[in-house]
Amino acid sequence: MKRKTTKQNRQNRLRHLRAKGKTVPGTHKPVLVQEVLAALQPKPGETILDCTVGFGGHAQAFLEQIGPEGLLIGMDMDDNELERTRYRMKDYDNVHLHHANFSEIQDVLHREGLEKVDVIFADLGVSSMQIDDATRGISYKADGPLDMRMDPTLEKTSSDLLAEMSESELGHALWELSDEPDHAIIARFIVGQRQAESITTVDQLVRLVLNAKGLTPRTWKQQLKRSGFGSLHPAARTFQALRILVNDELGSLSRLLETAPKSLVPGGRIGIISFHSGEDRLVKNSFRDGYKKKIYSAIRPQVTTPRTSEIVRNPRSASAKFRWAQKT
Ligand SMILES: C[S@@+](CC[C@H](N)C(=O)[O-])C[C@H]1O[C@@H](n2cnc3c(N)ncnc32)[C@H](O)[C@@H]1O
Repeated sequence: MKRKTTKQNRQNRLRHLRAKGKTVPGTHKPVLVQEVLAALQPKPGETILDCTVGFGGHAQAFLEQIGPEGLLIGMDMDDNELERTRYRMKDYDNVHLHHANFSEIQDVLHREGLEKVDVIFADLGVSSMQIDDATRGISYKADGPLDMRMDPTLEKTSSDLLAEMSESELGHALWELSDEPDHAIIARFIVGQRQAESITTVDQLVRLVLNAKGLTPRTWKQQLKRSGFGSLHPAARTFQALRILVNDELGSLSRLLETAPKSLVPGGRIGIISFHSGEDRLVKNSFRDGYKKKIYSAIRPQVTTPRTSEIVRNPRSASAKFRWAQKT
């Protein structure tokens, strides 16, 4: 009983910190940087494949370790943000950036004339810039079109999925991808609502989820006030599940985990930061199976999470989980 209370207190505290979180617009604070460097130990002259280069925070930290004789290959599926990162890193001759999905690391290495690298790193999910950009509809916080694609060349938006998925598919996705406890009723409301009008905006979906949970914007605000602003927004899980679906995030991660060992030199290291249980389970199982099959010679069974001081500085780090493995 006591343990449960302590765990609940911690979760409430983390939610509270997350709710207060602010990152300077147009930037992204990298998470667990020291822990990543300590585990992956990038050395002068090594080649690093940063599969999710984003704003380039981890990439900068790697560059300081590998020096000018090392090579940093960065990938990102979001060409808009990649262009800005390309500009910020223009003075580095040893940074090569590619617009690509990390399910295609072998293609990118082929383009580089390489087969293997010393370190593969991925910091999953979305960047602060993507969350804050209302035109992408990734967050429930500001109204905009329900798009959610990290790569605008992807065929389907979240609005398309809401229009075509069956009630049971929607309910299943909400449960599997975000542990949404009200998955069945939200799915029923979506299917009911779309018969009257297409669901195309963030505000429409937020209102629908509030309705499904028996709330209105006013009662939700009152509930939030009573909880000391520590509650997760009622629509947060629905938005997360849809974003994961639109971008096939678990499919891409599975393909990365499958191909990564083939692209690492003996003794090479792989590190992955994930932000929800579905992703972390895939990483944990892949590293554990690889260790049993002697593909990896070392893994750390425990997950590394941010210290409270990092969560205070950067509330978006609160749900980060880092795991690594070393190739045999
Ligand atoms: C959390 S951010 C990375 C932040 C970065 N580590 C930094 O320090 O700035 C995640 C990035 O991964 C990209 N991304 C997500 N899934 C991807 C995938 N399957 N392939 C390539 N990039 C992906 C997103 O577009 C986003 O820019």
